[in-house]
Amino acid sequence: TDSALRAAAELVREVPDFPEPGVLFRDISPMLADGPALAAVVGALGRDFRFDVVAGVEARGFLLGAAVAQAAGTGVIGLRKPGKLPEVADRVDYTLEYGRATLELPAGTLRAGQRVLVVDDVLATGGTLGAACRLVRQAGSDVAAAAVVLELTALEGRDKIAGEEIRALLSV
Ligand code: PRP
Ligand code: HPA
Repeated sequence: TDSALRAAAELVREVPDFPEPGVLFRDISPMLADGPALAAVVGALGRDFRFDVVAGVEARGFLLGAAVAQAAGTGVIGLRKPGKLPEVADRVDYTLEYGRATLELPAGTLRAGQRVLVVDDVLATGGTLGAACRLVRQAGSDVAAAAVVLELTALEGRDKIAGEEIRALLSV
């Protein structure tokens, strides 16, 4: 419900100067640690979407993605940073605010034609979610939606995933 989500929002901590000076970091760890708050966000992330499998982005998207999948009765796929997977089906390189990064899809997971709910904690510049959606599409699968707990609107990350349905539970 709205009031449960508002209560959950109160549990996001604002941490100045992390990971570098001048950045105000939003830490959702206390929200995840609270039972009612976790239930509220997990329920809201997947509600009314139709999907066959969830893809969660390393690392905090794993926590949320697995919970959303379990609640929906689907499986979950972990999209991983490089060097972690024994067999990689596909990889996408993308641009971060500073530098580059890569996401990898594990072999033997996603099947062509599946509808995928992509889940992560935060939408910032959109590079990460954009790469996740590209991995899904390159596998011949469909993005049901990209769902995050928190959108940092000033970074305009939505523009990088234009064309996808985006659900952000909270916006700052
Ligand atoms: C954070 C966050 C998102 C991503 C958002 O992950 O969890 O995945 O950044 O940023 P973007 O929209 O600018 O791409 P981070 O890279 O810090 O990794 P972690 O979850 O492993 O800590
Ligand atoms: N919080 C969590 N993850 C993030 C943030 C933030 O403020 N910015 C980029 N990724």
